Amino acid sequence: MNPTRRLREEHQLILQVLDCFETALAEAVESGEVHRSVFEPFVKFFQGFADQCHHCREEDHLFPCMEQAGIPREGGPIGVMLHEHQQARMHVRTISEHLEAADTGDSDAVQIIFDHGRSYLNLLRAHIDKEDHCLFGMADQLIQGPQLTSLNQSYEETESEPEYCAKLKRCRAIADTLIEQYGSVTN
Ligand SMILES: [Fe+2]
Ligand SMILES: [Fe+2]
Repeated sequence: MNPTRRLREEHQLILQVLDCFETALAEAVESGEVHRSVFEPFVKFFQGFADQCHHCREEDHLFPCMEQAGIPREGGPIGVMLHEHQQARMHVRTISEHLEAADTGDSDAVQIIFDHGRSYLNLLRAHIDKEDHCLFGMADQLIQGPQLTSLNQSYEETESEPEYCAKLKRCRAIADTLIEQYGSVTN
């Protein structure tokens, strides 16, 4: 199987939830209020699926394969992607850490969530665009033969781990609920 097909499919789900997040964020900005119950499912999805399932799969499997095929980690596109994963983690962690205070009406915490929410949206959409239209094309050309077989095997091993499956199931259920609640303009 194409080495990036699964990752590209995961991007589509992340983009759909980002659209929902944009709507939720705009409603919160409009009202000036942040409700924990609104933002918590997004945090769970972004940490559980976008980061722990998706970014980690890129970091643990795809990027090392690309390095082996000759793409340098430092000073190249892989380094940029890794840096953006770190920034994305920081934005979601900051949102998570300020939810409780924001929920009680703390205006500083509310503003922090607005700022980091907007930054996360912009960062992750641009990040996915770079991977879909640049990095993954390089990976598809470079990773072939035995390297491709071994990459697909490592994906399959991860997907057969019960803990991973359970997390994926939980996150997909959250995404389904959010997409139903907010609608989707992506697909
Ligand atoms: Fe990525
Ligand atoms: Fe990605």
